[in-house]
Amino acid sequence: MILVTGGAGFIGSNFVLDWLAQSDEPVVNLDALTYAGNRANLAALDGDARHVFVHGDIGDRALVDGLLATHRPRAIVHFAAESHVDRSIHGPGAFVKTNVEGTFTLLEAARGFWNTLDGAGKAAFRFHHVSTDEVYGSLKPSDPPFAETNPYEPNSPYSASKAASDHLVRAWHHTYGLPVLTTNCSNNYGPYHFPEKLIPLMIVNALAGKPLPVYGDGRQIRDWLYVKDHCSGIRAVLAGGRVGETYNIGGWNEMANIDIVHTVCALLDELRPDPAGPYARLITHVTDRPGHDRRYAIDARKIERELGWRPAETFATGIRKTVQWYLDNAAWVANVQSGAYQDWIGTHYSAR
Ligand code: NAD
Ligand code: DAU
Repeated sequence: MILVTGGAGFIGSNFVLDWLAQSDEPVVNLDALTYAGNRANLAALDGDARHVFVHGDIGDRALVDGLLATHRPRAIVHFAAESHVDRSIHGPGAFVKTNVEGTFTLLEAARGFWNTLDGAGKAAFRFHHVSTDEVYGSLKPSDPPFAETNPYEPNSPYSASKAASDHLVRAWHHTYGLPVLTTNCSNNYGPYHFPEKLIPLMIVNALAGKPLPVYGDGRQIRDWLYVKDHCSGIRAVLAGGRVGETYNIGGWNEMANIDIVHTVCALLDELRPDPAGPYARLITHVTDRPGHDRRYAIDARKIERELGWRPAETFATGIRKTVQWYLDNAAWVANVQSGAYQDWIGTHYSAR
């Protein structure tokens, strides 16, 4: 079996659902159920004995030790993190706590467990760390995309905490021999994306007739990858990646935020037209994010060359599926828009 951390969040829940759709290898899913974790993402697995959900913190060493000793996983796939850049600007402490200290605790527990394995078990074990392209910093318009060899230049508390966790993972391999893999991925989108992030926020605000807040001039560029392609990339690296290596995962799809927002609006105009007029009328430019990285782009040739992975979805196919998913899952959206969610929207957007 495998141990997944953060498997009730956006990418982790997609990963667990896809894993169990393709294999009968059980999953132990450790998640603290922060505001971003949602058991409803995993409702399709209710009653499925292949999925063991554990409500707990990766920073709880005794809990993690007990899970490893009991379930004896052949791999850990580590998603658990605080993941939102804007929240890291308002309150960086939780990011250091989970992303840095939590990863440290998980690594130490993994090392302790790994040391109890026999030779074959030790060789087969993997610690797969799921990280981000944001650790590489910001690109100029003419710069080549991020390669795995780029220096780390994180600019936000979030990306600095992820960079720190990447360094710990690297060191646990070089110093202790722990068989690690790290993947650095670009911006994901798709089902179960929490509506604090750009694409789901634009969809739910548009449907509610609320302003679509675009930071600054909206010309910041991100590379966008459909979440299920990220999951297949992780599976490919877990199965065949070289121990100690890092692999960039991306969609070969650089787009400016304002173009993303117009694409979402056009799809909604087609699929759920608003009698009041085109959704783009709601676009509102607001104060920029402090320290906002201007451009990310991913060179994903290494994972393609070594493991034959390429994204299956184009942006056109992936964003259509995504918008349709939000239209079909209004109950999920209503469920996550709790009181705490309203507090965040009020705190973050009211003064912009
Ligand atoms: P998310 O915020 O949607 O989910 C994070 C999950 O981790 C939640 O279920 C939360 O409850 C859980 N969690 C948080 N703190 C925890 C703790 N201390 N112990 C146990 N569980 C805890 O995040 P996401 O967007 O799904 O991202 C998952 C991972 O992928 C993160 O490590 C993130 O840095 C990385 N990543 C995300 C993206 C993206 O576009 N979203 C891109 C590249 C990499
Ligand atoms: O690049 C990978 C990263 O992508 C992940 O590591 C992070 O976990 C994930 O949250 C994401 O980070 P971003 O900061 O790029 O995502 P976000 O959806 O917050 O913002 C995307 C872009 O849209 C960014 O340039 C900021 C902008 N934006 C965002 C929001 C929420 C707006 O213009 N308005 C908004 O209201």
